[in-house]
Amino acid sequence: MFRQGQAQDPSFSSLKEDILKKRLRRLRTSPSMRGLLAENVITINDLIQPIFIEEQATERTAIESLPSVFRETEISAALAAKQIQNLGIPAIMVFGVSHHKDSSGSDSMKKGGLLDRMISRIRDAAPDITIIADTCFCEYTDHGHCGVLDKNGDVDNDRTLENLARQSIIAAQAGADIIAPSGMMDGMVNAIRSALDQNGFENKAILSYAAKYASCFYGPFREAAGCSLGATKGHAIKSDRKTYQMNPANSEEALREVALDIEEGADMVIVKPGLPYLDVLTKIRQRFEIPTFAYHVSGEFAMLKAAAERNWLDYDLALQEQMIAFKRAGATGIVTYGASDMARILGH
Ligand code: PBG
Repeated sequence: MFRQGQAQDPSFSSLKEDILKKRLRRLRTSPSMRGLLAENVITINDLIQPIFIEEQATERTAIESLPSVFRETEISAALAAKQIQNLGIPAIMVFGVSHHKDSSGSDSMKKGGLLDRMISRIRDAAPDITIIADTCFCEYTDHGHCGVLDKNGDVDNDRTLENLARQSIIAAQAGADIIAPSGMMDGMVNAIRSALDQNGFENKAILSYAAKYASCFYGPFREAAGCSLGATKGHAIKSDRKTYQMNPANSEEALREVALDIEEGADMVIVKPGLPYLDVLTKIRQRFEIPTFAYHVSGEFAMLKAAAERNWLDYDLALQEQMIAFKRAGATGIVTYGASDMARILGH
């Protein structure tokens, strides 16, 4: 467009002088130049791998809606955790698939229950990995809600807090390093911090799901963990989680949630889901000085896998682009079902 000989036009040459002295393409001319100029980087230290552990299972089973993810048995989970540790991934998040469900999720509050067993087993198998206990009841209640229900079929906030305190002690005793309450109960961080401190666990950290949205992107997880709502018939129960999880329309409210959790003693916070809520993540990072993680949830991962299976997207490239998007938005790290794949892509 700017050929020599056109330069006689005076307005045109001044345009060339003003603008074309600045050419940003100079900084993109080669891979090494692009590497040098990269503003963000993803490393293995940014990754958290979630795993599912099913009790009473005799062999690990593939999860149809989450290609490449398995429901591990209590035996195979130990092997999986060791592999994750050997890759150099710093942290693992454990989810139970329970066959002992009841109205309060009592199995997760007792010694010898699935939560206790799976954390202890992983602690033994992978002593150097950081174990994050997702502290919630939906995997252990027969109705699928994230706490005990009141007579209207809604989650009773304050009774659930007492149970969260109990569950977090079981997780801490079993060897979890980080307690991650994900049920969006008001006061959950305070309840857990007090319980941990009173039981000699001052050094166990709290990663609060401060901004967790009532999202349809959790669909595949609910199949994976067997915790869809309304499993019990004959109860008047709510068919969604909108009375405790956040409205996707809101971001100011997320800042209030984070402010309260910091006041209550949260060490780190998490935004969930991930990619549809990058603006929320960035706002939190701009407002607060607290490590902030993103959860790249099951539905986000499943979409990527489904498109890749049809050759509509290159899985490795799309995963890398999504991960760097989280870093660019300000994430301290990312919980993703693609953590082990990302480790492989990074050469581990
Ligand atoms: C339980 C929990 C859920 C997820 C993580 N922890 C389900 C839910 O809140 O409905 C979803 C994770 C995912 O979709 O990958 N509180």
